[in-house]
Amino acid sequence: MESVRHDLPSGTVTFLFTDVEGSTKLLHDLGAEGYARALAEHRRLLRDAFTAHGGVEVDTQGDAFFIAFPTAPGAVAAADEATRALAPGPIRVRIGLHTGAPLVTDEGYVGVDVHRAARIAAAGHGGQVLVSATTVAASEDVDLVDLGEHRLKDLAAPERLYQLGDDEFPPLKALSVSNLPVPATPFVGREPELEQLCTLLRDPDVRLLTVTGAGGIGKTRLALQAAAETSAAFPDGLWWVALAPLTDPALVPVALAQMLGVREEEGVPLAQALAERLENRRLLVLLDNAEHLLRGLVDEVRGLLEASARITVLVTSRERLDVSAEHLFALPPMTREDASAFFRARAAMLGVSLDRSAGVAALCERLDRLPLALQLAASRLRTFSPEQLLERLSRRLDLLKGGRDLDPRQQTLRATIEWSHDLLSPEEQTLFRRLAVFVDGCTLAAAETVCDAQTDQLEGLVDKSLLQRRDDAVEPRFWMLESIHEFAAERLAAAGEEADLRARHALYFRELAERMAGSLRAGDPEETPVATLEADIDNLRAAVALGLETGDNELVREITAALPLYWLDRDLYAEGRSWLERALELDPAEDDARRRLLSGLATIAYRQGDHDVAVSASDEAAALAMRLLGVADRFQLLKAQARAAGMRGELETAEGLWRETLEAALEADNGVGISACRLNLAALANTTRRHELAEELAQENLPFVRSRGQTRCEAYTLATLAQTRVYRGQAEDVADDAVAGARRSTQIGNNSLTAFCLDLAATAAAARGEARRSATILGATEAAREAMGAPPDEQEEAIRSRALELLGRDGSSVAEAWAEGRELDLESALAAATSDRIE
Ligand SMILES: Nc1ncnc2c1ncn2[C@@H]1O[C@H](COP(=O)(O)OP(=O)(O)OP(=O)(O)O)[C@@H](O)[C@H]1O
Ligand SMILES: [Mg+2]
Repeated sequence: MESVRHDLPSGTVTFLFTDVEGSTKLLHDLGAEGYARALAEHRRLLRDAFTAHGGVEVDTQGDAFFIAFPTAPGAVAAADEATRALAPGPIRVRIGLHTGAPLVTDEGYVGVDVHRAARIAAAGHGGQVLVSATTVAASEDVDLVDLGEHRLKDLAAPERLYQLGDDEFPPLKALSVSNLPVPATPFVGREPELEQLCTLLRDPDVRLLTVTGAGGIGKTRLALQAAAETSAAFPDGLWWVALAPLTDPALVPVALAQMLGVREEEGVPLAQALAERLENRRLLVLLDNAEHLLRGLVDEVRGLLEASARITVLVTSRERLDVSAEHLFALPPMTREDASAFFRARAAMLGVSLDRSAGVAALCERLDRLPLALQLAASRLRTFSPEQLLERLSRRLDLLKGGRDLDPRQQTLRATIEWSHDLLSPEEQTLFRRLAVFVDGCTLAAAETVCDAQTDQLEGLVDKSLLQRRDDAVEPRFWMLESIHEFAAERLAAAGEEADLRARHALYFRELAERMAGSLRAGDPEETPVATLEADIDNLRAAVALGLETGDNELVREITAALPLYWLDRDLYAEGRSWLERALELDPAEDDARRRLLSGLATIAYRQGDHDVAVSASDEAAALAMRLLGVADRFQLLKAQARAAGMRGELETAEGLWRETLEAALEADNGVGISACRLNLAALANTTRRHELAEELAQENLPFVRSRGQTRCEAYTLATLAQTRVYRGQAEDVADDAVAGARRSTQIGNNSLTAFCLDLAATAAAARGEARRSATILGATEAAREAMGAPPDEQEEAIRSRALELLGRDGSSVAEAWAEGRELDLESALAAATSDRIE
């Protein structure tokens, strides 16, 4: 063993990692000898810079330095000096800085901050110095560019990164295109498995890889980790689809389309749109917890593999899928070392430090080194020592063995869950089984209303690892690991409470859906209600399923009628349409619910390009509104008629009706309604070349929607305004509105509207003679529409043509900028629309 490194700074330390960019290529270009010489020179220059500022070399491997500095300013100054010294070339290094309080041991530094620092360096480019927020906080007066938040490949929460100096570099090599969840605890051990899995994933011949193993053995966790580690091999992203909440394999493409932002277009079915989007893409799809869908999943997986020859599907499942292309990876239990490190790490999280007693090792063995069982046991370490845990759990296991004909690991896990459950107070046990009624977890409010949960009981379950908590888009959610959820569901059924709980669950979600729909109709900002519905879509699905099972048509119809704005906002037309058609078929009653269902169907069918259905649904909705007058309000009636006329192409009638509808909306003070009427009138005015009128309407609408915080309406208004001005020949004046519109629509996550606003910004740039900027943006929106599988519609095409016309024939500089733009995502294109560095 090495001696203790007394030379290493301790306490708060700033780490600096360096790495030579493109060393293989340099070796090739310079030859072995030339490269060795350049490398030696680079080492000398770096060492001079580092020692001048108090840096201590911790480790140097090949062409990478790991240096520790006692102060952050020293590290920043050294990084700056080193970069300057290397500027003449040929070697360029990326440098990462991060400050933390590591443990100094006989083997050097220990702690997550060391890994963080290395990951930060790896995200950069040659000549770039990346600085973490902790280092920035400990430095003063440094010239930095804020690069925003990035997820690094260690899968931890995003890190805000800064760049030293203001040179331009390509985007960071971080985990940007991914929806991999952030685990709440660090990953432990599993080095050989991780390496094997990564090698398989990187192998283009491995198209379908299934990680199998007992429940709770760590399949999901390892798969997530491997996906993150190999992200460089999947430039088109890593997509995690949790299958456990899904009852129908056909929902897999729906979920995937939603994640990828694939939008349905004129008469193109979702499956096809998705396939087109995936074509030639190199991406990884992680289908997690597939065991309950196995047979039905095979076709979906085939569909994915056929959509692109470069897609890799990673599955976790207790059983294999059993298709010919499948590679298997059977995950064993943890090794002795990993199991004990995992157990100790869990203990440390509770503030319990374990001595080197034999108890831990024996307990790990007894629990078959199954992480989930170890985690459940470890969560009781405040009460029991490892020896006591061993004794109590052993008694259980002995009792259980011999009996059932189960996989022994399954028995171990089951016994551990049972044991953990039996230690709960009776109130906690009741809550635990009741929470099984939720699909894919729930919010605190849902747990309180449906299960009479008390906060301290929920926290108790989280402490005991029987419940997980994660932060979500709108509010935190409580959820269960799959093996635990199954156990809780059994208990719920055994207690005879299932029917009652499902009814309470359905009632809660019906009310939630109605409340969100009401808030959307009233013109509240859309993002929160839509995200709320999205987060609970599996619960809403389960509530509808109960309605179908028990013949509660009202439940099905009311939930369905509440969701159209969610489907429209998220471009989920096929999904929405199938719900709506089902609800309409279920019950022919000519009531207000039917009117709302028809009106939702009309809009969705219209967006799908299915004009026949759109016209007949909107006609029927209008007729129904007429008959129900008194029940439905005047606004709804007129709107239905105006839309029906518009869809039939009767423009004059439509305009008259929209005017009347506007009056009704004003009378009812319906914010979204008022905005929708004005923008529909503006669109009609533009179609009939009365652009001045269109502009007036949009101008009038803008302060109105702003004062009400109607983000979505504001984005549409800004787009209409800019578009109208382009038609009026004032393209050079629309940049501000177009950019503001794009900002708003990124805020609500509407990619197609963002692309449209950016095209308007590109038109403005072209009109101002900023050819490079214009071409960069047009390249980016072109690529984004291709990626979405959504070619520009008529008005989008009109604006793009105008931009191209203004761009004229500007030769090669435009072509180059266009190509650069194609590499940008919409957010970077938005930055390019305003950056001072372009033009
Ligand atoms: N290597 C690891 N490092 C840290 N935590 C781990 C590791 N492996 C597993 N765990 C933890 O153990 C628990 C069970 O693991 P996981 O959910 O991955 O099991 P699984 O095999 O997917 O189970 P199931 O079949 O029920 O889905 C989780 O809380 C997970 O975070
Ligand atoms: Mg799993």
